[in-house]
Amino acid sequence: MREIDELIESEISRPSVFIDESVLYPEYVPSNIRHRDQQFKQLARVFKPMLIKPGSVSAKVLLIGAVGTGKTVTAMAFGRAVTTAANKKGLSLHYAHINCSRSNNAASIFRDLKNQLGLPIPDRGLSVHEMISAILEVMEREDLYALVTLDEFDYFINASSPEDRYLVLRFYDVFKMSAKRLSFMYVVRGSPTHILSKLDSFTGSYLMKNVVTFDPYKASELYDILSDRVELAFYPGVVGEEVIDYIAHLTGYDTGGDGNARKALAILHAAGKLADKDMIEGRANRVTLDHVRAVVAQEYPALIDVLDTIHYLPLHELLVLKAIAIALTVSETDYVTTGEVEEIYRKLCLELGESPRGHTKVYMYIIDLRQRGIIMTKSSVKGKRGRSTYIGFGAVPLNVLIQRLDNVIRNKKLLR
Ligand SMILES: Nc1ncnc2c1ncn2[C@@H]1O[C@H](COP(=O)(O)OP(=O)(O)O)[C@@H](O)[C@H]1O
Ligand SMILES: [Mg+2]
Repeated sequence: MREIDELIESEISRPSVFIDESVLYPEYVPSNIRHRDQQFKQLARVFKPMLIKPGSVSAKVLLIGAVGTGKTVTAMAFGRAVTTAANKKGLSLHYAHINCSRSNNAASIFRDLKNQLGLPIPDRGLSVHEMISAILEVMEREDLYALVTLDEFDYFINASSPEDRYLVLRFYDVFKMSAKRLSFMYVVRGSPTHILSKLDSFTGSYLMKNVVTFDPYKASELYDILSDRVELAFYPGVVGEEVIDYIAHLTGYDTGGDGNARKALAILHAAGKLADKDMIEGRANRVTLDHVRAVVAQEYPALIDVLDTIHYLPLHELLVLKAIAIALTVSETDYVTTGEVEEIYRKLCLELGESPRGHTKVYMYIIDLRQRGIIMTKSSVKGKRGRSTYIGFGAVPLNVLIQRLDNVIRNKKLLR
């Protein structure tokens, strides 16, 4: 007990630049969304009928833009605001946010929806159509409405069958109901032409009726987004304006960056971490431009994308990814074999009291990790004999990845 007290005490008294680091995590939803008034206005226009004539139409809108342009936070904040407004009017409207990189077929989307709405419908034993009918029936009976965001919808478009696409995109053409209780926001990355190329023209034009675009952020906009977050995350005076300005210019669309707010925040976060390290060693008491430069030098972009994805992977896929990272660290080579990875994976399972998945499943996880661009694979490696699948890794510093994976794995274990 004594040791734990001391541990906590020393952790608390350890010098740090952060008051609250968690507001810099990608999953944090800020209460103040900057420079998206235009988008909020457009959304309000599309979903107005939902509030003034509930059930009259199923409103649909496509939110489109590059990574880190605030699509997800805007959808969530809008969902929150609309629900509050509706509830004030005595309307039972709920907001559901479904990530299609996790739920990429109709069955899992509607199961997820049913769970988020808390409807008393069993998980198993129903076909998709039966599941949807059951959802509609309960909503009708209990007079419920829902605004549903299908985030990372490109995963669904890429992975789904034509039947599933039809079902999800033309929902009320399949389920003819007089009261339309579900409305949708589809969130996709990239440009409208990119999305249209993946859909038949009929479905495509249907989806393009209401489009809200998210342009990459300019440096001045990122400056505001960063400033807000600095105030919540750091002690006063620890991050100077010059640091915020520097990061904003590195990442601003009009100043040569890609206008990605997630990247800007990740750089700020990482610079803070470096400053913390220096602080413990008595070498710094604030975040400096050199901290920012050091972070940028480490090819951060690749890491940001990976860290963003890992939240949505199942526990055992994360364990396989961790095994890959460990195998690469231990062997100090560029590529390791699936055999080596599996051996470490089984050890990790043992440590966690998890029963390991079989060879085929592990292989499927590896293929999925490759498809997500997290790892690279090849079937032969110079200087190594025999045929096997060799696994390598992009630009991400392995120790940072392993540390982050541990956090996510711990949370996943707790949630089960
Ligand atoms: N306008 C904004 N105001 C405040 N924070 C923002 C804004 N836009 C993006 N962010 C932050 O930047 C990160 C990326 O935003 P996100 O909505 O996930 O982008 P996208 O979904 O377009 O990839 C998140 O941490 C989010 O909180
Ligand atoms: Mg997003």
